[in-house]
Amino acid sequence: MRIERARGTRDFLPGEMRKRRIMEARMREIAERWGYEEISTPTFELAELFTLKSGEAILKDMYAFEDKGGRHLALRPELTAPVTRMYVNELKMASKPTKVYYFGNCFRYEEPQKARYREFWQFGVELIGSDRPEAQAEVIALAYYILESLGIEAELHVGHVGLIREKLRAAKMEEEQINKVMRLVDKGEREEVIAFMNEIRVKREVIDDLLRLIDLKGKGKDALKSAHDQTIIAPESDALKELEMLLEMLNYYGVVYTLNLGIARGLDYYTGMVFEIYEAGGTLGAQNQICGGGSYRLAALFGGDEVPSTGFAFGFDRLAELFRLETRDLKRKEVVVVPVRERDTNDREVVKEALKIASKLREIVTTQIDLMNRSLSAQLSYANAIHASFAVLVGKNELKEEKVTLRYLDTGEQEKLGVEDCVERIKACFNVK
Ligand code: HAM
Repeated sequence: MRIERARGTRDFLPGEMRKRRIMEARMREIAERWGYEEISTPTFELAELFTLKSGEAILKDMYAFEDKGGRHLALRPELTAPVTRMYVNELKMASKPTKVYYFGNCFRYEEPQKARYREFWQFGVELIGSDRPEAQAEVIALAYYILESLGIEAELHVGHVGLIREKLRAAKMEEEQINKVMRLVDKGEREEVIAFMNEIRVKREVIDDLLRLIDLKGKGKDALKSAHDQTIIAPESDALKELEMLLEMLNYYGVVYTLNLGIARGLDYYTGMVFEIYEAGGTLGAQNQICGGGSYRLAALFGGDEVPSTGFAFGFDRLAELFRLETRDLKRKEVVVVPVRERDTNDREVVKEALKIASKLREIVTTQIDLMNRSLSAQLSYANAIHASFAVLVGKNELKEEKVTLRYLDTGEQEKLGVEDCVERIKACFNVK
């Protein structure tokens, strides 16, 4: 019986895994150079960690279940809430800002489609202890720089949910109602926004202002100016001042952005700046959002003090679909040690010496050795098939002369030399210290 994978999950074959590891290594290196330290949290949590802010409705989008002890658990749909929980429980005393990054799998019970999976990976950072424009700018600039380093062309949109929330609060809407509006705005469901606000009897001017606000879009600070001119945003608004300073700082970083006040984000915890990054090329189709983030306050909800924080998460799988390996990454630094045996024998001395050489080479480079008692030509075909760079032949003649034959698989040239010299030659070719 053939058993299929669970819906919305994927297998990663060696080539894909190699690519993912190369990407991951680059992203980690950059996050660490910017002063973020890695953390890891459990794959499943108490379900309330995710429902506390968003309500029970979120359960339909999650893998939630009861364990044998009757605990209500959920596979994590994202990592901001778990990281905040960990911070409140374990890291409260750490000096501020606490800057952490993570790479982990997440689970969402969504309809699978291109670039949308039920199990997917996020690479993200959380800067805990500040949501000042300086912190917001650093977080956005880091995401921007990571994409640049991966050679992925993307478009950054920056918004501010504080501006929208301020407006709706002033109209005396309740938090729950505001959250609902934000979710509808996030999905682009304009008609539903109007219908809902009419239903709860919000004044026509407020609805109109909201629609004009979420339509504000433009390069640089121009869009903000137009909001001033149209008097949609009160000049004394704190959110506005914060946003202006953030945009200025993004200019200092050389980050190119579009101001887009229509960004509402699907998660309920954002309080201020929000941003999304979309791929520029059209490869991903409808699911083209590769990064999302913003400022939020969650710690108080989990029993800590009110701590302003800012973070983002990349959809790692979407990045992997856009990332192209360079030729130098494709070439495999690999050696195949070839024991040359007499036909149909298992020549012990030859095998013993070949294994010794393989062990030595494995200290510096990936090394394979025949495991199927194959002939010389079959072993060389294998070495070529896996795109190894060298074959090291060990036969009776080599043993007698205390040498090996080093074969350059690209050219087919070969030379006999002592084992130490052979190792040095390979080291030099692979640039290994
Ligand atoms: P999010 O926008 O829900 O934000 O997810 C971040 C990224 O994960 C998305 O931009 C997208 O690329 C990717 N993603 C989401 N769902 C899927 C899926 N089903 N399949 C593949 N990729 C997916 C968050 O999760 C926030 N925790 C980000 C954050 C961190 N905000 C502050 N700190």
